[in-house]
Order: sequence, then C-alpha cells, then structure tokens
Amino acid sequence: MKVGLVGWRGMVGSVLMQRMLEENDLAGVEAVFFSTSQAGEKAPQFGQLGNNTLESASDLGKLAELDIIITCQGGDYTNEIHPKLRATGWDGYWIDAASSLRMKDNAVIILDPINRKVIDEALANGCKDFIGGNCTVSLMLMAIGGLLNAGLVEWVSSMTYQAASGAGAPNMRELLLQMGNLHHSVAEQLQNPASAILEIDHKVTSALRSSTMPTTEFGFPLAGSLLPWIDREVEDGQSREEWKGLAETNKILGNSTPIPVDGICVRIGAMRCHSQALTIKLTKDVAISEIEQLIASSNEWATVVPNTKADSLTQLTPTAVSGTLTIPVGRLRKMKMGPHYLSAFTCGDQLLWGAAEPLRRMLRILAE
Ligand code: HSE
Repeated sequence: MKVGLVGWRGMVGSVLMQRMLEENDLAGVEAVFFSTSQAGEKAPQFGQLGNNTLESASDLGKLAELDIIITCQGGDYTNEIHPKLRATGWDGYWIDAASSLRMKDNAVIILDPINRKVIDEALANGCKDFIGGNCTVSLMLMAIGGLLNAGLVEWVSSMTYQAASGAGAPNMRELLLQMGNLHHSVAEQLQNPASAILEIDHKVTSALRSSTMPTTEFGFPLAGSLLPWIDREVEDGQSREEWKGLAETNKILGNSTPIPVDGICVRIGAMRCHSQALTIKLTKDVAISEIEQLIASSNEWATVVPNTKADSLTQLTPTAVSGTLTIPVGRLRKMKMGPHYLSAFTCGDQLLWGAAEPLRRMLRILAE
C-alpha cells in the first residue's frame, strides 16, 4: 500500500502524525511525504517503509502513483489539486481534513465509531473520497451518537463553547498574548490584596478596548471576552459553523429524513477543546438510566459523567479533556420543559476526534 501524506507539518497534520506514530499506523506502509515548499529535502521518519525525500505536493505524476492520499494541507490545496488529479484518471482514496469536498454527493464524511455502516456501504459502492467532519459536529456525534442511532432524537439544539485551536495555530498564540496583555495591565494592583476590584476591572476593560490588544488573528479580544460568531455569514442569520450542524450531522448518519440540529456557535478562551451544551428533544420519554447506558455503550470513548457538581467540574472541562480521546458527556437530566427534553453537556479535543483521529482510522479501515 503506497500512502501519500500532505500537510503533515501543520497543527492538525502534526497531531495526526503523532497519533499515527503512537498507533504504529505506518508499519509496513510505503509512505511518501509531500511538501508545498521543501521538495527534495529529507522526509521525516514515522516508522514507514521506503522514500527518504520530500516530493512536491503539486506533482500530479507523483501523487497519481499513490493508492491513498491523506491531506491536512487545507481547503485551497484540495480545491486546486483534487479535481486535477481525478481528471488524470487517478482513482485512489483521498482522505482529507478540509471541508471542501465534505458535502459532495460522491464523498462520505468519516466518523467510523458512529457511521461505520455508511462508510462500509460507500466503500462497497466504489466511493473514493473520505472527508473528516467539522470538529463540533464530530464531537457532538461522538457524545450522543448512541441516542441518534437508537432513533431517540427528534431535534438537537447545540450551544457551543469553541476553543481557539479551531481557528488555527496563530489564534492559539494570540489568545495567550491577549491573556498576558490583560494581566500586564493590572499586574501591579494584583500584587496588592487591598486594591479596589472595580478599579482593576476598569483597567481591564480599557485594555480590552485599547489598540494595544493583539487582535490580528481574531480581529477582536477573545481573552476576557467571547466571540458569538464563528466563520462567515450564510443565510437565515446563521453562521457557516451553525449551518454545518444540520448538514453534516445528517450526512454523517446517512439520514434520508434530516434531524434538525441548530444552535449558536461561540468562540471562548479555551485552547483546544470544544464544549457544547445540548438540549435534545427526545422522540419518547426514556429513563435517564437508559440514556446513560446508550451513550456509554455507543463507543469506547464516550463516558457518562455523573450529574454532580464535583464530577462535572473535575471531568467535564477542557482542562480535564485536553490531549485525550475521552468524550465525557454529563449534566444529563430531564429539563423542566417536560420528560421529552434532555439536557447534556459534552467536551472534546477538537484536534483529536475533531480532526486527526477519524483520518488515521480511515487509513486503518482501508488497510483491513
Ligand atoms: N470550524 C471549527 C472552528 C474548526 O472554528 O472551531 C474546524 O472544524
């Protein structure tokens, strides 16, 4: 099996390579590493066979020699290379983290713990394009896929708390610079326990509104604030991130009758974990114990967190989850609206299940 890797050096690509190394995914694989800028230089070692030199990521001839291409290079690369490569007659497997091809009829969105059946059917039907889903959608499905697949969900409202990493590596750095800037603005007063908190707050607000606040990436202060809009405007007052909720969820699940998914997507000052507060309208009155059992048995990463203050604050936060594959699901209770209304809160690492993990698992599926 000859596998090409493109965009392996970026943030998602680096997480992917780290995971592939941990899982020994490239053992016995002839891997070819591509670069958009450093062709001819030495290729990295990830336990793969063969090739020691970086190939050019725009060399259609070299790309066409591959059985599988995995790319984390981004949407512009996909938009440019994928159609040209397919036009040469190449019919290998294209595994992609970017959103460009996600909603195409001949592409499948991969999240195998939830939609392995959809993936297997697509493979049997000759599908060749397998695309990672939007991180928020994938993390929600990892959390409540058990309820959706059991037909218990009439609709979902998802209010998100999305980390800086979803916007990119430079945004993570900017968030930290903003935090430092705010601290710096009141560092002296903080040394003095007797200083007036309202004066400190006033200075922080002034710093937030000042032109010295670093905002090149986000355009606005995120530290000490939040951003209630992610991605561009689409229609009906929705952001594109919100639009993906319904579109991608139903495509991933292969639903012929779509389940409504909608909400408000918000950027908050976490580093790499997206959290979501879910309101779920159930199709029938199901006991919480059964709901917990369906979530916990849906896949090996979803874990039910008891709905107590202590468990929620220790297990259901970006602090607890960052860098792990665990998908805690907690705050499970019936809401005051009635027995069909379930509340839930979940948190997940958007670079792992939200980006890299489904890609490496697709490679494994193809190697089976
Ligand atoms: N669009 C997501 C975000 C990340 O901005 O957080 C990628 O799915």
